[in-house]
Amino acid sequence: MKSLKYLLILCLILSFSDLAMSQTTKVIEIKTKSTSLVYTVDQTNRLVFQYFGRATASPAGFLKQKAYPKPDTNRDYSYEAYPTFGLGNINEPALAAIHADGSLNTELEFLSVERDDSRSDLEKTVIHLKDRVYDFEVELHTNAFFSEDVISQWVVIRNLEKGPVHLTNFASSFLPLKAESYYLTHFYGAWAGEMGMVEEKLENGIKVIECKKGVRTTQTENPSFILSLNHPALENEGDCYGGSLAWSGNYRLAFQLDELKKLNIISGINPFLSAWSLNPGESFTTPEMIYTYSNEGRGQVSRNLHEWGRKYGMVGGDQIHDIVLNSWEGAYFSFDENTLTGMMDDAAELGIETFVLDDGWFGNKYPRSNDDAGLGDWQTNKNKLPRGLDYLIDYAHSKGLKFGLWIEPEMVNPESELAENHPEWIVQSPGREKIAWRNQLLLDLSNPKVQDFVYNVFDSLLTTHPGIEYIKWDANRHVEQAGSTWLPASEQTHFWVLYTKGLYTVYERIRAKYPNFMIQDCASGGGRLDYGALKYHNEYWTSDNTDPLSRIFIQYGTSLIYPPVGSASHVSTSPNHQTQRMTPLKFRFDVATTGRLGMELQPKNIQGKEREFAVESIRNYKQTIRPLVTVGDLYRLISPYDDGGWASQMYVAKDKAEAVLFAFSIAPHTRGVFPTVKLNGLDETKHYQVKEINKNGRVRFWGDGQTFAGDYLMNVGIELNISDQFDSAVFLLKEMK
Ligand code: GLA
Repeated sequence: MKSLKYLLILCLILSFSDLAMSQTTKVIEIKTKSTSLVYTVDQTNRLVFQYFGRATASPAGFLKQKAYPKPDTNRDYSYEAYPTFGLGNINEPALAAIHADGSLNTELEFLSVERDDSRSDLEKTVIHLKDRVYDFEVELHTNAFFSEDVISQWVVIRNLEKGPVHLTNFASSFLPLKAESYYLTHFYGAWAGEMGMVEEKLENGIKVIECKKGVRTTQTENPSFILSLNHPALENEGDCYGGSLAWSGNYRLAFQLDELKKLNIISGINPFLSAWSLNPGESFTTPEMIYTYSNEGRGQVSRNLHEWGRKYGMVGGDQIHDIVLNSWEGAYFSFDENTLTGMMDDAAELGIETFVLDDGWFGNKYPRSNDDAGLGDWQTNKNKLPRGLDYLIDYAHSKGLKFGLWIEPEMVNPESELAENHPEWIVQSPGREKIAWRNQLLLDLSNPKVQDFVYNVFDSLLTTHPGIEYIKWDANRHVEQAGSTWLPASEQTHFWVLYTKGLYTVYERIRAKYPNFMIQDCASGGGRLDYGALKYHNEYWTSDNTDPLSRIFIQYGTSLIYPPVGSASHVSTSPNHQTQRMTPLKFRFDVATTGRLGMELQPKNIQGKEREFAVESIRNYKQTIRPLVTVGDLYRLISPYDDGGWASQMYVAKDKAEAVLFAFSIAPHTRGVFPTVKLNGLDETKHYQVKEINKNGRVRFWGDGQTFAGDYLMNVGIELNISDQFDSAVFLLKEMK
């Protein structure tokens, strides 16, 4: 009996001391307009993650916050802000390091916090952490973008020990969430089928979204996600998080549902074969992980990301983009001067603003008349273009068009002068046959000489031909053999990270000299669509698939994370070259006008009534649709993934005085079956005139031209007569006072 009493007292003391351990001494709240991210520091100086969600008015409540003790340990059940391997964390670590003395354990304690709130739109916070034993430091950086409700996080890891430290895991960010269930939307795909969407309920264990391809990392997956708590994501309601890693190299986003039903999200560079050695005094900076949260569903999550992306995540995101004619699908490699000037004549007549000469214009010793030669030799091919690029540039200008050019400067065909002159610049593995992909090899951007070369491809083209006003930057293969002749044996694992950092060094140099120049981000289509690359680009080639039905799905998935203003979307010929599908020109135009409109076909093949329609559609895009696609708010109304066989979306001006509505019939429907489209994002109290444009001879709404109350349009909705497959409708909404 007596011993039982002692045992009880002992238990009480133990549990009391455990609770005492988690006693909070400091609250660090990072705020945006509608969200709060809260960390606390406990009495043992641990930086503890507490909360990320809807803004809390009383962060002081966290001072009282305590955690329950973990069984069998003298620790509590709280989650470190940046969990390391060693002492306490048994889940996937954000950081694991082999210290100078060989120790595998790291345990960080809080040192200090710095805040910079000198800007009203962006607050910067740096939390300084240090290993309890070693001179090894971590800075946890958080940028809070106030109006966009976006935060970004990254870390700087610094070795102040006497010898080298090897980092084996070095994530950008750790985010634990607590709910009854978790629904993860992520993206998958292939060439010509990027950003497919899948949503799954997470179960215990680890779900990983990752890439080990080094380059063209977003062709099959994307380092982004939407996470909905307690139910599958809804467009307009529910707790929803969005995340996207700003990194164009290997990535790993791990979602570990642990035994406490907490979801641990760890995002960053993929540590796969990438161990990083830090010499004394050196530091390693991880890429930024971007997050947003809304309690109004994934629609608001996307709008937050678009708003942030336009302002901080891309170049010129709030600027009007030109309508482009790209030569690729209209001419491929088979063109001469006349083909191109003919295309320009037609482009100008149609109202297009920029002509882009795609692949096939370069290489002399090894002419680029196919994809098997010439890559790397960036001199104009004298047979095809005897008067050089300047002749074409001048011709474009004489037609009132800007001139753009395709390059793929990270790559080389074995059949090229570049491969002959610099075999050592090629990514390779000693003694092994080089594996070509699309007949090409990859240049080793970890090597500063290659960085100079790639920079000079861009810079000398623009210096020699100052009339070029647009570059499409392509990258058509990934890494299959990692290996650099430049890096020493001990640093071969640095190759993956250094390739991407080398690419960013080149981008930085380009942007320092050409800050606003129009550059399209392309990698066999959407193979490099991430906020790391987008930061240096004005737009992205969403997919090589120009079939409008495929594009409805691809652009829908893309719109979850990336701003539609950057989504290059081209009208091509029918039957489509990728899918062989036949679709009407109106359907192709209506789909393309939901993004950055362009054309990619031989324009002289569009004649008669079709040509008249093309001219009208381009005119309407310029006058009314384009400003809304550029800076309006996107509301997705009907998902193509729903069973109905419809898709619909709209863009609403910030002042809610104008909007454009798109609706598509994407499957055959029984006669008389029509979609009812409930609009969104309007002002319930305003009245709007609803006017169909690009009608192509048929009216698709009984109320065309009439005025309706915002609340009617949003709550009752409008039924549209678009039952035939590939019928579509576009409406302009204007506030009537
Ligand atoms: C890639 C691009 C295409 C086109 C071709 C040219 O596939 O994605 O748009 O530029 O290369 O070879």
